[in-house]
Amino acid sequence: MSNMNPHVLETFRFQAEACRSLGSPFTANLCDLLAERLTDSSRFGARILNWPDSARADAIALRATGALHGLVRSGRARELASLYPPLEAKPDQLWEAIATAIEKHDDFLHDFLDSPPQTNEVMRSSALLGMALRLAERLKMGLALYEIGASAGLNLAFDTYHYALGEDREWGESNALVNIDSEWRGHIPPLEAELEIVSREGCDRNPLDPHTPESVERQLAYIWADQHNRIGRVSAALSAAASRPYAVDRADAADWVDAKLAETAKPGVARVFFHTIVWQYLPDATKERIAESFAAAGAVATQEAPLVWMYMEAEGHPAGAVLKQTVWPGGEKETVGLTDYHGRWVDWS
Ligand SMILES: C[S@@+](CC[C@H](N)C(=O)[O-])C[C@H]1O[C@@H](n2cnc3c(N)ncnc32)[C@H](O)[C@@H]1O
Repeated sequence: MSNMNPHVLETFRFQAEACRSLGSPFTANLCDLLAERLTDSSRFGARILNWPDSARADAIALRATGALHGLVRSGRARELASLYPPLEAKPDQLWEAIATAIEKHDDFLHDFLDSPPQTNEVMRSSALLGMALRLAERLKMGLALYEIGASAGLNLAFDTYHYALGEDREWGESNALVNIDSEWRGHIPPLEAELEIVSREGCDRNPLDPHTPESVERQLAYIWADQHNRIGRVSAALSAAASRPYAVDRADAADWVDAKLAETAKPGVARVFFHTIVWQYLPDATKERIAESFAAAGAVATQEAPLVWMYMEAEGHPAGAVLKQTVWPGGEKETVGLTDYHGRWVDWS
């Protein structure tokens, strides 16, 4: 019998299922354990159990698992850390260590819950690479990148990573710091296309600066503890990003899009605006404003200075996120693929 308010309990159960289907059995089990055993005897527990109705929207389950992983990563809870993956601890043993950690580090865990989880999934670069290669082949000019909701800006550097794309397909320098393993299926984008990125800019309402150790640690804490490859990949991408000037502006998506579209388009360069798993977080008024701004700018775009809006977003497809693009002049929206939410595969058929 859980001590949680029903809507909080429902959030933990929902998150457990999501983690299971996205390949994180440890985090799934952790959500179930917290749902069953967390009590209000700590500030951390009481805050979670009584979280307001917005529990699901606030991703309270991921705040909680992020807090525990953050504590483990900080090196302050050795006993709990020794039971975290790769070890497969028994539920009772794990819970005992969690209960002790909550008792000893209640303030740290309680305060960690303050902010919403925010990550930057670098495997999504695989979908962006494929779309960009197709654009490069079609438009035969350099691409200026503009990312909406860029987080730490890791996917703005998609052309600097190395990719293993299934069936012996590779792209990028083999000594790149970041290696992405993503299976491409179907009508494969042109790996030989000449891809030139002429500039990269992004915005986020809360940019995560890769130069700040605290921000880096927090991002890694939100990655599920049994997904070692993901932790390694994001860690490498954050280190690589830390050696570049930071290109993500703190701005609201609609304001930023308008400001960037107001800049004069350069002949011989295609402006490519894109976003991955951001649309669902924007209010309707913001989404409408952005769509209208693109339509207006698209109406005056030329063959010499085309405009592209492309995205990877959840649009209710049961198998994953859809990849769509609109290229102006023209302005026809095309579906170009389907991908796993974390970019583990992309189907280009
Ligand atoms: C799920 S994350 C995705 C981050 C990144 N695109 C990726 O795929 O890893 C959603 C991002 O959208 C940003 N965001 C949400 N609302 C926004 C807004 N109104 N303006 C700008 N960024 C926003 C969040 O701060 C967050 O970084």
